[in-house]
Amino acid sequence: MRTHLKLPRRSFLGLLFLFSLSTSALYFIYSAPGIVNEYLFMVQARSIQIKENVRSIGAQVLEQVVRGAYSSVNGTDYAYDFDISEPYAQTTTYLPEGFTYLPNQRCPERLPSMKGPVDMNMSEISLEDVERSLLEEDGSLGSGGHWKPQDCVPRWKVAILVPFRNRHEHLPILFRHLVPALQRQRIQFGFYIIEQVRNEPFNRAMLFNVGFKEAMKDLDWDCMVFHDVDHILENDHNYYGCGDMPRHFAVKLNKYYYMLPYNEFFGGVSGLTVEQFQKINGFPNAFWGWGGEDDDLWNRVQFAGYSVSRPPGDLGRYMSIPHHHRGEVQFLGRYTLLRQSKERQGLDGLNNLVYIPQVSRRRLYTNVTVNLSRELAPVADSAPEASEPRLTLSGS
Ligand SMILES: *[C@@H]1O[C@H](CO)[C@@H](O)[C@H](O)[C@H]1NC(C)=O
Ligand SMILES: *[C@@H]1O[C@H](CO)[C@@H](O)[C@H](O)[C@H]1NC(C)=O
Ligand SMILES: *[C@@H]1O[C@H](CO)[C@@H](O)[C@H](O)[C@H]1NC(C)=O
Ligand SMILES: *[C@@H]1O[C@H](CO)[C@@H](O)[C@H](O)[C@H]1NC(C)=O
Repeated sequence: MRTHLKLPRRSFLGLLFLFSLSTSALYFIYSAPGIVNEYLFMVQARSIQIKENVRSIGAQVLEQVVRGAYSSVNGTDYAYDFDISEPYAQTTTYLPEGFTYLPNQRCPERLPSMKGPVDMNMSEISLEDVERSLLEEDGSLGSGGHWKPQDCVPRWKVAILVPFRNRHEHLPILFRHLVPALQRQRIQFGFYIIEQVRNEPFNRAMLFNVGFKEAMKDLDWDCMVFHDVDHILENDHNYYGCGDMPRHFAVKLNKYYYMLPYNEFFGGVSGLTVEQFQKINGFPNAFWGWGGEDDDLWNRVQFAGYSVSRPPGDLGRYMSIPHHHRGEVQFLGRYTLLRQSKERQGLDGLNNLVYIPQVSRRRLYTNVTVNLSRELAPVADSAPEASEPRLTLSGS
């Protein structure tokens, strides 16, 4: 009698357990992908931290042993050069205060005006207030956030492209930090905010492609910086010019404990010359929703024979403005697409994208508003179709 009662109760509990497990799994996949990703990064970052600690403790112990061995032979302390810390190539010097350069000369890359750590202020502020204080600081800041140095010839003409949706409170914080830093770096720049309207999942990569095409109609920019709106640079020695190789600027994020989450990480802020960006056919257009497009860009860069360069040491530190991934869906089809990176590179990117933008000029940026949909970037039949589960999420 007893066993008869026990069995159904046990299976009922089992079912209840499975049910709650699957609902919470669904919750994390559909409603809160950001939390899961940040948690995974955190776990990964912690284990890297532990590994680093173990390695440096190990190196110190070894050093003691070696030192001991040498001193017992010679009786003197042998200077053995152990490099325990991270290589920090901060050997280059900055020009001295009061150094003058000429209006007809190229701007130096390491100016005395670049002061290193940036004064951070992450509190909310209105766009009008930022506009006013930036213009007070330098009246030559033109419409569309265009600026060029007057005291030397800029080394780079940089278009800063910022994909955007529902983050109006972040924009002023970005401008407040980035505009003065770029002015201190004596770079010519302009800002493009590319806003996605309608309720398709956010397509960061496609917005960058649109931004690139629109920016190139304005001016012959030679360097594109692909910038998330919530990433604030902490050091103005992190020079926003491009180089022989694609550049990854946002190396160490506070939300990942200031560690590179994985070697192929190419998210947050990156920069390519116009030539490099055209050669890799831009970003892929097929990443609808959160995640994966930066990994695909990494692949594209590798397939084109480039390797990514990064600022040394702590120069690539960024603070992210805290927020929730409200109403954003995770793109579950990304792993399928990433496996086909190589085949899709020539088929999907700058070359298959058509769109109709709405462009308006604001004081600090050019507003490019687009209505993105899958039909705007058809991929030729030979491409393997991604069998992506489509997710829609209403509201936040
Ligand atoms: C210390 O030891 C090394 C190797 O045993 C030897 O080559 C060197 O000449 C010694 N130096 C002194 C100052 O004795
Ligand atoms: C940060 O910015 C806010 C808004 O502009 C201002 O009121 C506050 O004084 C600033 N804080 C610091 C420490 O500068
Ligand atoms: C861009 O312009 C559209 C109207 O064309 C407007 O609705 C939107 O708020 C603007 N976005 C930004 C970031 O200024
Ligand atoms: C965006 O596209 C949808 C569907 O293609 C269309 O119904 C809508 O009117 C468009 N909106 C704008 C602002 O262009």
